[in-house]
Amino acid sequence: MALGGNPLVPFVPTRSEVLPAVFKLLDLKEDDVFYDLGCGDGRVVVEAAKRFPVKKVVCVELRKELAEETRRRAKKEGVADRVQVIEGDFFKINLSEATAIYMYLLTSVNEALKPKLKRELRPGTRIVTLDFPIPGWEPVKTVQTEGVWQKTLYLYVIGKSDK
Ligand SMILES: C[S@@+](CC[C@H](N)C(=O)[O-])C[C@H]1O[C@@H](n2cnc3c(N)ncnc32)[C@H](O)[C@@H]1O
Repeated sequence: MALGGNPLVPFVPTRSEVLPAVFKLLDLKEDDVFYDLGCGDGRVVVEAAKRFPVKKVVCVELRKELAEETRRRAKKEGVADRVQVIEGDFFKINLSEATAIYMYLLTSVNEALKPKLKRELRPGTRIVTLDFPIPGWEPVKTVQTEGVWQKTLYLYVIGKSDK
């Protein structure tokens, strides 16, 4: 996979104003295992662990300094025991335990990830993407945010969206 190992996606954090809509779409529950693929400085995963009693929260981040920042943030916010930080390439990590996924990447990266998502994720797994759709998949819901330049959230469900 040509994109694997190459951080083609810049670090641009999800704005805090967008997070309520992200979490509303993800609808995290106690038995969920939540992954942020390319978690940046960990603001989404740490907030998820703080707000929701999910079983497990996983950050996958290629850039060392951002993975370390996520560890620091999780510790500071008292959720380090519930946030696993994987410093690595999400193309190379098995995603099969995930039941809810967040991705703020690029359309080209989503396209490249599609076969892996289809192969490894179980039916019913939710994927929320910000501003960049998964080409060829049908979102079950699309939400427009207000007052922020990060505009569109897409919700995909494995088994429904990936036909
Ligand atoms: C647009 S930022 C989003 C950060 C975070 N998810 C958020 O919403 O605040 C994308 C992140 O993906 C990371 N990334 C890009 N390619 C990656 C890969 N192949 N494996 C792991 N992380 C990657 C980048 O380093 C960057 O931090």
